[in-house]
Amino acid sequence: METYRAIVNKRDTRALRPDPIPDEVLARILQAGRMAGSAKAAEPVRLVVLKDPARRAELAACGNFTPHLLAAPVVVAIVLVPEVDQPHGQFAIFRGPFDAGRAAQNMMLAAWEAGISSCPASMHHAEAAAKVLGLPPGHVVANTIAFGYPAGADPVTGQRPRMPLDDYVRWERW
Ligand SMILES: Cc1cc2nc3c(=O)[nH]c(=O)nc-3n(C[C@H](O)[C@H](O)[C@H](O)COP(=O)(O)O)c2cc1C
Repeated sequence: METYRAIVNKRDTRALRPDPIPDEVLARILQAGRMAGSAKAAEPVRLVVLKDPARRAELAACGNFTPHLLAAPVVVAIVLVPEVDQPHGQFAIFRGPFDAGRAAQNMMLAAWEAGISSCPASMHHAEAAAKVLGLPPGHVVANTIAFGYPAGADPVTGQRPRMPLDDYVRWERW
């Protein structure tokens, strides 16, 4: 798939089939996340992959809009580790979320190229999610992503136009 087409066609999809994702395809998706750059090349992102339905259900209970975590055959939790020079969690405010977002979009686009849809699911109860995942102290869940083959048209997809480019982009000054 041409890169630009993949980027502009990709929509978040919650209607996912339970069919398994082949290991080699999943490996490519995870590799795409690993290759994302990070501020100061600190690499604060780690991934926890969940396939087990019971584990996915536990994680789904930690967010408020998460039915797609139950439908998906694979859920990837994006975890931020505390940086050595920012021991008080400042990474979570400044660099970490940007790095996590880059890894997330890389993975979603690599999946999309392979015909696999995806949708993030926020962990509104972040401490509970950290407990479910068994994270060490100071580690936080930036977000989770459900991956799976599309079950059909997402009822919401296509009805969410983006704002006009002129509203989105300013030139030289706000
Ligand atoms: C940081 C982030 C968190 C999100 N959390 C959720 C969520 O908890 N549940 C959900 O159904 N969708 C979630 N989404 C998906 C958004 O609703 C989706 O990106 C938005 O509606 C645009 O979708 P589209 O690209 O298909 O138009 C999240 C997206 C982002 C970027």
